[in-house]
Amino acid sequence: MKTADKLLVRALRGETLKRPPIWLMRQAGRYLPEYRATRAKAGAFLDLCFNPELATEVTLQPIRRFGFDAAILFSDILVVPHALGQNVRFEEGRGPVLDPLVDDEAINRLAMDQFHQRLKAVYATIGGIRAGLPAETALIGFAGAPWTVASYMIEGGSSRDFAKIKSWAYGRPDSFQRLINLLVEATAQYLNAQIEAGAEVLQLFDSWAGSLDHAGLLRWSYQPMKAIVDRVRMSHPDVPVIVFPRACGAGYLDFARQPFMHGLSLDSGVPLDWAFTQLQGRLALQGNLDPQLLVTGGDAMRNAATRILETLGRGPFIFNLGHGIVPETPPEHVGALVDLVQGWQS
Ligand code: CP3
Repeated sequence: MKTADKLLVRALRGETLKRPPIWLMRQAGRYLPEYRATRAKAGAFLDLCFNPELATEVTLQPIRRFGFDAAILFSDILVVPHALGQNVRFEEGRGPVLDPLVDDEAINRLAMDQFHQRLKAVYATIGGIRAGLPAETALIGFAGAPWTVASYMIEGGSSRDFAKIKSWAYGRPDSFQRLINLLVEATAQYLNAQIEAGAEVLQLFDSWAGSLDHAGLLRWSYQPMKAIVDRVRMSHPDVPVIVFPRACGAGYLDFARQPFMHGLSLDSGVPLDWAFTQLQGRLALQGNLDPQLLVTGGDAMRNAATRILETLGRGPFIFNLGHGIVPETPPEHVGALVDLVQGWQS
């Protein structure tokens, strides 16, 4: 099937479909026993990301099991700082750990010269996935947005208060802008290379957009993501892009009123009626079932999913969660959700 005919691409082009396409953030992950088995074979998490054969395998596992309408490349947003020369590792039970950037000198030490060389396993994975994917399934490539990636680079890992990155961004914006500009350039090149390797749709994850004040959201989330998408579009005008400025509240209006993207991914806090009246007429929406409802399952899950379908399902819409699947999720609940969405008719 041609890319343009796949359900995900048609939804992102603004078409109203008989039923929305469904894929789930973190659909490949620890909730699946087959993922845990492959992960144990690979060793460290980054070794799995950089092993094309095993990364292809874990990307395809949820497609085989559930028949999602799209696959997402198995990788991580933190391969970009790694490819820029920063030391990145994942510690069991603790998550990502980076040698934090502390000053302008540390920004100067980041370099593009080995960037694509260090990411070539990711590009090989994309080729492997395309070869193994059912004809009707779309392949999504992705990257982290500059603000979210920079937060890991400066905080040295996950953060609760974003104190270090905010004191840099708010206190020395010109210096911080240099890091953002580097990430815009690197991310645009990375996404272009993903498209050239076979990605058909892109998603930019700004998981920590909601930590910013409104002026900060426009400068450090909206603007850098727009700069990336503008750059990608110069080389690949037809590839649809989904943007996920998670938990930005009424800030979603800024993205919908001056859209540079085709799809806007909503976190679970966004009211459905508000999304319908204020956002959906302007672009395709994606979301936004609470991942904990997928852990709960049963009527609670079905009722919430049906409410989403009844409010937004006439489209343009893509069914997803408001954030990634959590490891405690029973796989049967995922199967029940996919059946419900794929059996729904507008
Ligand atoms: O199936 C998919 O969605 C594709 C793969 C994917 C992963 N990470 C795999 C992963 C994607 C799209 C990401 C994006 C990502 N990575 C984000 C943005 C989305 C979000 O969740 O907000 C962020 C912030 C990261 C950084 C990251 N990676 C953290 C904070 C952690 C530790 C937390 C955790 O869940 O363990 C990771 C690890 C990670 N990335 C895992 C997976 C499957 C779990 C690692 C393991 O197998 O032990």
